[in-house]
Amino acid sequence: MCGIIGVVGSDDTLATLLEGLTRLEYRGYDSAGIALVRAGETWRARTASGTESVAALKEECLRAPKGFTSGIGHTRWATHGAPEAINAHPHLDCSGNIAIIHNGIIENHTEIKEDLESRGHIFTSVTDSEVLAHLIEEFRAQGLELMEAVRQGLLVVRGAFALAAMDATEPNVIVAARRISPLVVGTAPGATYLASDVPAILDRASAFYAVNDDEIVRLGPEGFRAIDLEGAPVRLHQLSIEWDLETAEKGGHDDFMSKEINEQPNAIRSTLLDRRRKDGTITFDEMRISDDELRDVKRVCLVAAGTSYHSALIAKYAIEKWARLGVDVDISSEYRYRDPIVEVGTLVIGVSQSGETIDTIQATREAQRRGAHVVAISNIVDSSMAREADAVIYTRAGLEVSVASTKAFVAQVAALELLALRLAQLRGTLPESEIDGLFQGLNAVSAQVQAVLDRRENIELVAKELMGAHDFFFIGRHVGFPTALEGALKLKELTYLHAEGYPGGELKHGPLALIEPGVVVIAIATDPAMHEKMLSNLSEVKARGASVVAVATDDDEMIESVADFVLRVPATEPMFTPMVDVVSLQMFAYAVARGLGRNVDRPRNLAKTVTVE
Ligand code: M6R
Repeated sequence: MCGIIGVVGSDDTLATLLEGLTRLEYRGYDSAGIALVRAGETWRARTASGTESVAALKEECLRAPKGFTSGIGHTRWATHGAPEAINAHPHLDCSGNIAIIHNGIIENHTEIKEDLESRGHIFTSVTDSEVLAHLIEEFRAQGLELMEAVRQGLLVVRGAFALAAMDATEPNVIVAARRISPLVVGTAPGATYLASDVPAILDRASAFYAVNDDEIVRLGPEGFRAIDLEGAPVRLHQLSIEWDLETAEKGGHDDFMSKEINEQPNAIRSTLLDRRRKDGTITFDEMRISDDELRDVKRVCLVAAGTSYHSALIAKYAIEKWARLGVDVDISSEYRYRDPIVEVGTLVIGVSQSGETIDTIQATREAQRRGAHVVAISNIVDSSMAREADAVIYTRAGLEVSVASTKAFVAQVAALELLALRLAQLRGTLPESEIDGLFQGLNAVSAQVQAVLDRRENIELVAKELMGAHDFFFIGRHVGFPTALEGALKLKELTYLHAEGYPGGELKHGPLALIEPGVVVIAIATDPAMHEKMLSNLSEVKARGASVVAVATDDDEMIESVADFVLRVPATEPMFTPMVDVVSLQMFAYAVARGLGRNVDRPRNLAKTVTVE
């Protein structure tokens, strides 16, 4: 995701910005830029050389004029507009005096842009962010100070943002604001700093303050002051930061996995932002496939590996139920060797966090060779799969560092279920009122995921109780089955213990022979329609001596009669349960792995991205 840095009042501005951007590289990015601003002059440099962009920017900045004491810098992770220099931040207004950087998504950018263009504004990028520069320009033209102009601008925009704005006609001031995307202010004698992440300014500032949602901050060399969206003064909360740089990159967590597990509410929220127009149409801006082509789809086939395969399995339930299309799901390494049938109207969806998994790329290539339309679901903008596919939908989970996938999974499920709703909308298989209710429900999931994250202590207690076990069976029904597969995968890759996922109905067809005292059975029991059947599955394994753990909803009063341990989760629409339920399974696997002293970020024998067959 994008990184932000800013400084006012420093005699070392350029070095501060470039070092800060280097420290933000770990977030993942595809382009970078800075703007130096002083009275009557704005100097800007931008580069788009992938992960070499900051290095390239340093070269560009060798020709920067000297003597600037204020500036802003940005690393971009593309969402709207290709990762090219014209789309890199900072963006300027028409006069070239106002420079802005932005992290997040402006949901109503199309309508704002149309309005501004009709009043003569000239846009030079295809980003959603550029509207901010021109909006601020409009309010500055009315004589408002920069802080007030930003506040007025924010009353117009919808969406998520961490932004910073400067204006050469009001020098030595940065105005910053936040909604959803993180932002911190740092102070030191004579200079004030701004960053999306503490590491960027850790060695420059001596005190750090968190900006909360819908707060606007004005930074000057002497310090800062903050207001809310109504213009009332607010105090920023001072953070006690005793981190070294490494801990700071992990957002204060012990490891990337824990950080990424905790980023899941945001991953879902970001993936869903900007996906529905005012008239209710579900839309994917980056998708290069027409509504007519989507309407003509006769059959869907999903190909993926590992965790992405599990999200593909969940998509099958959603697309079949909502869009009434037949769906196959293939493990990508199997797909191209089975001489797949690709008839006219087959849509193949390749699902991959990295977009670089060789088996999945080969599978989507094979599908294209056979005449299928291919959609890539990728977390990395312009990944090989995204470039080669006919269409792409980006999950916006941000860089995932830990080998075990967590936030990419929930973001994939959110994106795929949204695509299922779009297919239903185009095919007329669901009434608009139902689509509306499901869309609202999908948007509520991030809060439900947060509620699970808040129950860490109970999950850790259960993990402690079961630390000595060696065999784990995860069972589920309907979408609870892929959730069970994912829970088992997380446990085995993190702990190296034996863990298998099964459909609950399969127990009697073999696995029951393995159930004895010492074996742990973990059941996904959150779907009311499957509840009775799951209870009888659990009675069967309990009668044979297994220790039973159930993931169950808060209102489930029956579950304790069959479960030794219960991991409670908020109830949600059954199709959305995987995103909520999996979080407790991830945390359980994480806690067991930590208890066993495993390296949770880098499990043995595994790579983050498998690029050889
Ligand atoms: O980048 P991809 O989503 O294509 O990666 C697929 C698998 O390699 C990946 O999900 C792997 O299974 C993870 N280690 C699971 O946690």
